[in-house]
Amino acid sequence: MKRLILILVLVLTVGLIYVGNVYSGSDEEMASKLWSKLQSDNYTANWKTWPGKGTMYKGTKPHGAFLSTYLNKEAYAGIEKKEKELPYGSIIVKENYMPDKKLGAVTVMSRVKDYNPDAGDWFWVKFAPDGKPMTMEKDGKTMNLAGKVPGCIGCHQASSGGIKFIMTQ
Ligand code: HEC
Repeated sequence: MKRLILILVLVLTVGLIYVGNVYSGSDEEMASKLWSKLQSDNYTANWKTWPGKGTMYKGTKPHGAFLSTYLNKEAYAGIEKKEKELPYGSIIVKENYMPDKKLGAVTVMSRVKDYNPDAGDWFWVKFAPDGKPMTMEKDGKTMNLAGKVPGCIGCHQASSGGIKFIMTQ
C-alpha cells in the first residue's frame, strides 16, 4: 500500500511538472511551446477547419485577404455545441494570406485556465510564417505580439456572434 501511494505521488508530481512546463513561463516561452505544439500536431493535416468555411476563404480587415482557420478538438467541440465560451484547452489557428495568396502571418488564440481572467483567459500570438512572434512599435518601445496583446483583445472583445471573444461567424 505504501509503495502504491509512493508511485501515485511520483506519477502526479511528474504529471504536474509536465503540465506546468507546457502552460507556464514567460509569454515568449509560451509562444514558442505553442508553435512547437502546432508543428508536432501537424494542424493543417490533423485539425478540422472552421465548420462550413474550408481553406482560403475571403477574410476581412485586419486579418488577411484569404484565411484558413483550424480548430483543435476542444475548440471544434465548443463551436459545434454552440457554447457561449469555448472550453479551456481550445486552440484556434488562423493563417492569414496576402492578396497574392502568400502566407503573411499565423494568428493564434489559445485558452489557458487562469492565464488572464479579465479577458476570457485567452493567450494571443501573431506569428510570422517562420514561427517567431511578430512585433509592433508602441511609444518608442518594441512590443511582442504574444500574450495579453491589447490590440487583439480590444477588437475581439466586441465579438457579436454568440461566442465570447470569437469573431468568425
Ligand atoms: C480590428 C479588429 C481585430 C483585431 C485588432 C484582431 N482581430 Fe482577430 N479577428 C477579427 C475578425 C473580424 C475575425 C474574423 C475573421 C475575419 O473575417 O477576418 C478575427 C478572427 C480571428 C481568429 C479566428 C477565431 C475568431 O475569433 O474568429 C483568430 C485566432 C484571431 N482573429 C487572432 C487574432 C490575434 C492573435 C490578434 C492580435 C495580434 C487579432 N486577432 C487582432 C478582428 C480582429
